[in-house]
Amino acid sequence: MTFEIDDAKRRSARLRWDDLDFSAFEEEPLHPDALRCVRYMHDVEFHTSCYLRDLLLGPVHHDPNLTSFLSIWAFEELWHGEALASVLAAHGEPSGSTRIGPMRDSLGIADRIRPLAMLAGTWTIGADLVALQMAWGAVNEMTTQAGYALLASNAGNPVLTSLLKRIMLQEGRHIAFYTSQARTRLASSAKARRVTRSALKHLWSPVGSKVMPRRETQHLSRYLFAGPGGARAAQRIDLKVGALPGLTGLSLLQNWFSRLPLSDEFPLPTGS
Ligand SMILES: [Fe+2]
Ligand SMILES: [Fe+2]
Repeated sequence: MTFEIDDAKRRSARLRWDDLDFSAFEEEPLHPDALRCVRYMHDVEFHTSCYLRDLLLGPVHHDPNLTSFLSIWAFEELWHGEALASVLAAHGEPSGSTRIGPMRDSLGIADRIRPLAMLAGTWTIGADLVALQMAWGAVNEMTTQAGYALLASNAGNPVLTSLLKRIMLQEGRHIAFYTSQARTRLASSAKARRVTRSALKHLWSPVGSKVMPRRETQHLSRYLFAGPGGARAAQRIDLKVGALPGLTGLSLLQNWFSRLPLSDEFPLPTGS
């Protein structure tokens, strides 16, 4: 754990993209479906500070190594949001606080009672809640990284690809930390394995789906994951999650994508 957090501190840095020429988007703008995915990812990256609010209500705030990692995580995700805001701005789209303010205003009662749900989870589950949160974080980071890879592939825009590769590198470090934490904590507690498996099986849905409109989550899921490349990525993630103690055979992503509506509104990317 000491090595992991020291490594995270040493590598932590704000994302840079000043050397990328975003004016190229004027000549070669993103396809509307790809840009719609960028809007979703922008909003969700910026929502990390709100996820952090909920996480810190639980037992993780007792562990100084975990709070150090979560501080680094929130900082890096902020700059992922800022980078995607620059992509939207280059397309003449509202971004940053202009999008995020109204989005947070729209969340309503569900957002206000989420801290109560987190406190209830803390009181009923206790310290084993951390294992669930680390496993949940691992799944979300894996899905996010795969989503960026699929967006780069589907969009076929070299500037976007360069940016997304940089983001994916940091997502990879987030995956490593969350997965390592989840593995250790699940291995040491039967209750943690039982609670985590049940919660993921019954409550998991892709990151952002609780705060973004349902049709946006469906669009992103289908555009990125419904083609052969997406299906392979989902299978790979399900295998990695299934390798964690107590989580064999959950098939979270494949089950989610099998329930997606089939409709012209949620197209497969060209060439998939
Ligand atoms: Fe991110
Ligand atoms: Fe991340």
